Amino acid sequence: MGLELFDLRGKTAMVTGGNRGLGEVAVMALAKAGADVAVCGRKKGELDRVCSAIRELGRKSSSFLLDVTSKESVHKGVKEILQEFGRVDILVNNAGVNYRVPVLEFPEDQWDLILKTNLKGYFLVAQAVAPKMIEMGYGKIINMSSILGTVALPNQIAYASAKGGVDQMTKVMALEWAKTGVRVNAIGPTYFETELVAQLRNDPERFQFINERTPMGRWGYPPELEGIVIFLASAASDFITGQTIYIDGGWTIW
Ligand SMILES: NC(=O)c1ccc[n+]([C@@H]2O[C@H](COP(=O)([O-])OP(=O)(O)OC[C@H]3O[C@@H](n4cnc5c(N)ncnc54)[C@H](OP(=O)(O)O)[C@@H]3O)[C@@H](O)[C@H]2O)c1
Repeated sequence: MGLELFDLRGKTAMVTGGNRGLGEVAVMALAKAGADVAVCGRKKGELDRVCSAIRELGRKSSSFLLDVTSKESVHKGVKEILQEFGRVDILVNNAGVNYRVPVLEFPEDQWDLILKTNLKGYFLVAQAVAPKMIEMGYGKIINMSSILGTVALPNQIAYASAKGGVDQMTKVMALEWAKTGVRVNAIGPTYFETELVAQLRNDPERFQFINERTPMGRWGYPPELEGIVIFLASAASDFITGQTIYIDGGWTIW
C-alpha cells in the first residue's frame, strides 16, 4: 500500500467556483494528483485561465459556464460535462458567497442569495451528478463547508445557517448513497486568505482576533487545502462517508 492510494489518474473531477480562491486550489490539487478536471463557474475568461494551467500538467480540462443558483444552468452544465468527459468521479461543491452584518440588519435578499448559493446550490449540483455516479457504482462528493457550520460568530447568520445545513446535507446524502459506492464528505476550513474574506484580512482587529482564537496562531495558507481534497477524492478515504473534516489550525478543538 503506497502513494497509489492517492492516485487520481483516469478520474474526472468537477469543481464549482473553480476560477479562483479555494476552488482553484482544489482544481489544481486534483489535477496534480492525476485527475482531468471540468472547471465550472460564471466567468469564462478566468475559468479558461485555470484550464490552461491544468493542461500544462498534462491533464484534460475544459471550462463550463454553470451558475449554481439556477437548476437549468446546473443541469445544462452537467450534461455538457458528461457529453465531453463521459463521467464525473469526483464533485467538489465549492461555490460560495458571504455577507456580514448583525441579525437585526440582515437584508432578506442577502439571506436568499447566500442560502441559494451555499446550500441549495450544493443540493442541485449533487442531485444532477449523483445518478451517473450511482450508475458507475463509485463517486466522491466533497462539500466545502466551514468551521461556521459548527461554531458561531456574530454577523454570520446566513452563512453559518447555510454551512450548518451543508454538514447535515452531507450526512443525509452519505446515508442514502452509502451502499451505492458514492461517498459524501465535507471540508470545514477556518479562515484562508481569499477574496471571500479580504474584508476581514484587511481589518487589523479582525485579523488579530482570528490569529489569537486559533490554537496554531494563524490563518490557513490556501495550498494547505490540497492534501485534504486529494485524500477525500481518492481511494485513500474509501471507508469514510458523512463526515466533516476540519482544517482549522485547531479552532474547533474548544
Ligand atoms: N476563504 C475562507 O476563509 C473560507 C473558509 C471556510 C469556507 N470557505 C468556503 O470555501 C468556498 C470557496 O471560498 P473562497 O474563499 O475561495 O471564496 P472566493 O474566492 O470568493 O470564491 C468563491 C467562488 O464561488 C463562485 N461562485 C459564487 N457564486 C456562484 C454561483 N452562483 N455559481 C457559480 N459559482 C459561484 C465564485 O465565482 P465568481 O468569480 O463568478 O464570483 C468564486 O469562484 C466557499 O464555499 C466558502 O464558503 C472559505
